[in-house]
Amino acid sequence: MPTQIKNVIFIGASGDLGGPVITHFLSLHNAQAPFTVSALTRQNSTAILPSGINVIRTDYTIASLESALKGQDVVISMLGYDGIHLQKTIIDAAIKAGVKRFIPSEFGSRTYDDKVRDAVPIFGGKRQIVEYLKANEGKISWTAVINGALFDLGLKVGFLGFDLQSHRAKLFDAGTVPFGATNLHTISHALFSLLSSPSNFADLQNKYIHIASHMTTQQEILAALEKITGKTWEKVPVNGRELSQTSLEKFQKGDSGALTGLIQAMTWGKLGDENLGDFRGEKLYNERLGLPKEDLEADVAAVLEGKAP
Ligand SMILES: NC(=O)c1ccc[n+]([C@@H]2O[C@H](COP(=O)([O-])OP(=O)(O)OC[C@H]3O[C@@H](n4cnc5c(N)ncnc54)[C@H](OP(=O)(O)O)[C@@H]3O)[C@@H](O)[C@H]2O)c1
Repeated sequence: MPTQIKNVIFIGASGDLGGPVITHFLSLHNAQAPFTVSALTRQNSTAILPSGINVIRTDYTIASLESALKGQDVVISMLGYDGIHLQKTIIDAAIKAGVKRFIPSEFGSRTYDDKVRDAVPIFGGKRQIVEYLKANEGKISWTAVINGALFDLGLKVGFLGFDLQSHRAKLFDAGTVPFGATNLHTISHALFSLLSSPSNFADLQNKYIHIASHMTTQQEILAALEKITGKTWEKVPVNGRELSQTSLEKFQKGDSGALTGLIQAMTWGKLGDENLGDFRGEKLYNERLGLPKEDLEADVAAVLEGKAP
C-alpha cells in the first residue's frame, strides 16, 4: 500500500532557508492541496511565520515534542547550527509519535564526505544526526537533501563571492572550481515532489539525494554578471588554502563569523587533490523530482533586478 502523506511539519520555518522554502512550499501545496502544513517553533521565539499554517510551540522537552509531532507524517528540519544537536531529541520524539519520515537539516554540502567534514568541522554535527537516523531506520525513515550552495540567496548576500553594489568579485583560486548550487524555490519544489509522490517517497527513503539548479563556476557567474550589468568587475584573487587555514583558526577561537570563509574555501578553493564543492560525480535527482531546467543568466538577472530570492 503506497504511503500517502497528509501532515507535514517544518522546524526552523522562520530561518534564512526555512522562511522562503516554506512560503514557496505553501504556494505549491495550495495549487494541489494534498498537505496540512505546520511549523514547530520555540516557546519564546519571536519568529513571524506565514499565515495558513498551524503553529505549534515547544520547549524542546521530549514530552512536548512528542505531543507536537503526534499525527505528523513528515518532519522537515531547517534548524540552524545552534539547533542542529536538538534533532536527536526531535527524532526520538518523532519515533514515539509515529512520524514516518525525518528530513534532517542538511541542505548544503556533502557532509557525509570525510574530507568535506575535515575542512568544515562543524558539519560533523549534521553527520552525527544522519548516523543516528541510520541506526533507527527500522523505526523511522529519512531523506537528506544535498543542494550545494544556495544560488539566489548566496548571490544576493555576497556568499558566492560577488558584491552586487560595488561590482567586486572575490575569486577563490581563480574561480574555476565547478560546484553545485540551488535556488530556494527549487528546494521547495524538490521537497514537494518527494512528499507528494508515493513512489518518490518510497524510493528515496534512507538516502542522501543531490539536486542542483546549476553546476557552474564563479567565472561563469562573473561572465553573466558582467554581461548583464555591462560593466567590467573588479577581480580580487583569494587563496583557498590560506582562507581555509585562517578561518579555521578564527573559528576554533570562537569567531562564528569565520564559518563563512571556511565554507567558501571548502566549496571554491583547491584545498587538496579534489575540488570538494564539486558534486558532478554524484547522481542528481532533478529529473526524478520533476525540477524545472533553470537558466544561469536568467537567474543572475532575477537577483540583480530584485526579483529573487
Ligand atoms: N547551502 C547553503 O548555502 C546554506 C545557506 C544557509 C543555510 N543552509 C543550511 O540550512 C539550514 C538552516 O539554516 P538557517 O541559516 O536558515 O538557520 P537559522 O536562520 O540560523 O535558524 C533557523 C531556525 O532555527 C531555529 N533556531 C535557531 N536557534 C535555535 C536554538 N538555539 N534552538 C532551537 N531552535 C533554534 C529558529 O526557529 P524558531 O525561532 O522558529 O524556533 C530559527 O529561525 C542549516 O542546515 C544550514 O546549514 C545552507
